[in-house]
Amino acid sequence: MLSREENDLLTRVGPGTAMGRLMRSYWIPALLSEEIPTPDCPPVRVRLLGEDLVAFRDSNGRVGLLGEYCAHRGTSLFFGRNEECGVRCIYHGWKFDVNGNVLETPAEPAGSDFRNRLRHPAYPCEEIAGMIFTYMGAAEKMPLLPRYEWAALQPSQLFPVKSFLECNYLQGIEGDFDSSHTSFLHNNNIQNAERLKRDGAPTLEAEATNYGMRAISIRKFGAAQIYVRTSPYIMPSFSIVPGPPTAKFEEDDIRGFRFWVPIDDGSSWLYILNMRKQPFDVAERKTLRNWIEPDFRRKRNLHNDYLIDRELQRTKLYSGIEASNPAEQDGCATETMGAICDRSKEHLGYSDKTIIALRKLLLGALNEMAAGKEPPHVIRQERDGDFSRLRSVKGILPANADWRQVMAGLGENDA
Ligand code: FES
Ligand SMILES: [Fe+2]
Repeated sequence: MLSREENDLLTRVGPGTAMGRLMRSYWIPALLSEEIPTPDCPPVRVRLLGEDLVAFRDSNGRVGLLGEYCAHRGTSLFFGRNEECGVRCIYHGWKFDVNGNVLETPAEPAGSDFRNRLRHPAYPCEEIAGMIFTYMGAAEKMPLLPRYEWAALQPSQLFPVKSFLECNYLQGIEGDFDSSHTSFLHNNNIQNAERLKRDGAPTLEAEATNYGMRAISIRKFGAAQIYVRTSPYIMPSFSIVPGPPTAKFEEDDIRGFRFWVPIDDGSSWLYILNMRKQPFDVAERKTLRNWIEPDFRRKRNLHNDYLIDRELQRTKLYSGIEASNPAEQDGCATETMGAICDRSKEHLGYSDKTIIALRKLLLGALNEMAAGKEPPHVIRQERDGDFSRLRSVKGILPANADWRQVMAGLGENDA
């Protein structure tokens, strides 16, 4: 449980808020590359951390992320003309480049240098893995982007999928650090004896790392085995969660890196960056996003009760929500708490241990910032930003096995 004040601190992300400042200290995803696929294509609206923005790709392929409202008198640049290396407002023709420079003010008298004294809000962008990342903090404090495993993969090995969540980002990411719910919400075969062997009340741990935190869950699995899962939490709001259990630690299955990005206080984007050694073919890509509409809204959502099937709930699925991605079931659990969950009314138990650790981590980071310190794990040196071996791992092991040793074999680069 949190006090109302703490809950507000953790969930409000607009300009000027504490968590908003924290989020603006890191590179975060702004949109997918496919949303602005070609030079001079139409601009798109992007709402991020409570700010209305417009993204465009200029004639040279550079990406711009500008304040939506024209510096002249506020017309939306979403309607702008994207032409000759800039976006031009359709009201009086002012033209802006990707850096926010005002290139032309054609309605001003010839020779006017008015434009040179102006600067339109513009955030730097970096394009990696089919995603466009931005940094929305003070220019002089811009950090490095960490190097993750996916930065070195080919486009054919990557498939980012974006979906809309109608609630605060924290509700979303807390689900990734709530290991016990997988035994219930994601139980898709309530008759399965294998599944019943798994312990619904795992032992939980949380450890500080050099990127944020790592959550660990250990379940009894039958009489002589344990099932171990580890999940990194990466500042400011990213995660890696393990897939379904397998008989051994797997290296070659699909892995998903997850970014929870606030649109504003009451809604968020979830980006799932799917990756695999084997290239994804067209059919697989279609399947991986078949639960999302072209506008990134989910087919099963708050407004259609997630298409819950009560007969399936009785006979097969714990949730009654037949999901092609577990995120669809997660969506029901988290969105139905309300846009911003009132954490002063919770009753937390042992199973919430890693969520409590996560909130502590974030509140600690806000405290440090309030004391004038740099937020944790902002990358300033190349050597601190090598996260290429960072993984979530899972596996069923003999009860007496040293799971840490097995995990170290797969590679993590924790502090
Ligand atoms: S409002 Fe955009 S040019 Fe005038
Ligand atoms: Fe889940």
